[in-house]
Amino acid sequence: MIKKDGLYYPTEEFKKKAWVSSPEIYKEAKKNPIKFWEKLAEELFWFKKWKKAFQHAPPFFEWFSGGQINITSNIFEKNKLGWEKIKEKPAIIWVPEPVEEQERILSYENLFKQVCQLANALKKLGVKRGDRVGIYLPMIPETIISMLACARIGAVHVVVFSAFSPQALRIRLQITEAKILITADGYYRRGKIINLKSNADEGIKETNVEKVIVVKRAGNEVNWDFEKNYWWHEIVENEAEFIEPEIMEAEDLLFILATSGSTGIPKACVHVCGGYTIQAYWTGRLIFDFHPEDILWCTSDFGWITGHTYACYSPLLNGITTLIYEGAPDWPIPERWAQILEKNKVTIFYTAPTAIRMFEKYGAELLEIYKFENLRLLGSVGEPIDESAWLWYFKNVGKERCPIVDTWWQTETGGILITSLPGIGPFKPAFVGLPFPGVRAEILDEKGRICPPEKEGNLVILPPFAPGLFRGIYKDPEKYLKTYWSQYGKKVYFTSDAAYRDKNGLIRIIGRVDDAIKVAGHRITTGELEAAVNSHPEITESAVIGIPDEIKGEVPVVFAVYHGQKSAEEVKKEVVDKINQTIGPIALPKEVYLVEDLPKTRSGKIMRRVLRKLFTREDLGDLSTLANPECVEKIKEKIQKGLRKS
Ligand code: WTA
Repeated sequence: MIKKDGLYYPTEEFKKKAWVSSPEIYKEAKKNPIKFWEKLAEELFWFKKWKKAFQHAPPFFEWFSGGQINITSNIFEKNKLGWEKIKEKPAIIWVPEPVEEQERILSYENLFKQVCQLANALKKLGVKRGDRVGIYLPMIPETIISMLACARIGAVHVVVFSAFSPQALRIRLQITEAKILITADGYYRRGKIINLKSNADEGIKETNVEKVIVVKRAGNEVNWDFEKNYWWHEIVENEAEFIEPEIMEAEDLLFILATSGSTGIPKACVHVCGGYTIQAYWTGRLIFDFHPEDILWCTSDFGWITGHTYACYSPLLNGITTLIYEGAPDWPIPERWAQILEKNKVTIFYTAPTAIRMFEKYGAELLEIYKFENLRLLGSVGEPIDESAWLWYFKNVGKERCPIVDTWWQTETGGILITSLPGIGPFKPAFVGLPFPGVRAEILDEKGRICPPEKEGNLVILPPFAPGLFRGIYKDPEKYLKTYWSQYGKKVYFTSDAAYRDKNGLIRIIGRVDDAIKVAGHRITTGELEAAVNSHPEITESAVIGIPDEIKGEVPVVFAVYHGQKSAEEVKKEVVDKINQTIGPIALPKEVYLVEDLPKTRSGKIMRRVLRKLFTREDLGDLSTLANPECVEKIKEKIQKGLRKS
């Protein structure tokens, strides 16, 4: 890349090959964003063209109504690159965690056959258009096959992160009323086999799930319910290798993905067939500059939106190869990820700042022998990347050659909405850059006025939004309205992120203004954690905050008011167990403090901000508004005692 006045630009060589290299695209999109998206949509395959591109009855909106589409037709037989051209090329490279196990490569043709076989099998098991299918699977090709098989027959997939606890699985199956679940016997993580089937058995209790399909992956022993359980390999074995695509309306549901809610009940975000397909295809093509020969490794798990859009749908719609890896990137050696990049000739690497900080900590010396000659583009997602991690990534992985797209988006947006385009730039460390063409992002102050450069405010998205923006919270329009469309009226999408623009208009994300925290890039709410802690019978109330962490970005810390006879050590362990049971190991707290009281306002609101400042050592500000300022001093002592110990 070329550096000029603190900004980075792509080289002429990169620009020459890029799909877009002229800023004209921004002007064109700005003139008429609806027309712009329509033009993009026209390049995909529709059974029937839409009647109206964008309709708005705030807060509800639709894109491409009247149009009919199936995302899998656009991946397979109607792929934009031509089916004959792509059918023999690798669609998926799967890298298992055990080093001695061989990679598995699935060509587009092979993938298509397996998708159709499973789709046929699902139909035989009674899955119909519109039914919800739970998918609780690790990073294996069968996860993609399951998602696509659902999409093929118009069923709605509900992927649940495989490291979520049985209880977290249960609530997601309950709120989406799934009838069937696809899971596996087990999978490898850091050399151990995780028994996923036993979690699934526990998770389906008190749900509508009648049938469970089980992939044989790790060969571990599992409990078997002969009435409910079906081995995947047995049900697909004799199925036909083709099935006609279900003709879907643009606004029919494609999938539901839950994101952490504040009360312990997740928000089930609804994504639809038409708009999502358009956005997944085009953001991949223009932001990652997907070319037919590209091999992408997006490290996100399928259980998160990044895994949905950029490990599955976007690369496949673009006819390129997606690499997926089962295990931990630093297992069994710290630079396993570098070996994977090199061995498989990955050209685009998309990961999270938390991984980059971890690689950095292991030391750049480990990377000296890796030239990463095939890499041509890097991406970052999920949390703000600070300048030093950006520069480390740029130098040691991108070898100062590859542009870095720092991409801002959310589970709700379905696809990337803000990042500079790689063939245009400019790139600035710690800034996500410019909104994608056709996306109107603004930064507003409390009163709804546009913030001048350098002034922090709330990031919002204005109509016509983007075709991939979610359409609602499943069966909960009130929460949808309240969470996203009430701060500045029903026409403004409230992102819950604080941000500012620099004088060039480049956007920098500060972080969440709600109770979501990003732990190693995973989005969880402190409210959900508090609900888990409060389920302890002798804990009357609690406050959870996120504190800065060198590697994970943020980690949770728990303050709990305990009235009981047990020892502090015992209670702390029970709190950790509660969180593990309710959510899973990703949310484990760094510390649990048992306290007598929590700082509160006179109206009884817990002042989490004050607690957080005790860790960041910021000025506590005026405490006189608190009903019980004396408790702050006591908590401070506890924290300091803890710090001295460590
Ligand atoms: C944060 C992940 C800074 C942000 C795709 C957002 C980011 C939340 C970035 C959504 C980025 C995402 N820079 N912050 N490039 N990308 N975020 O739903 O706070 O898991 O609101 O979707 O992650 O998290 P989610």
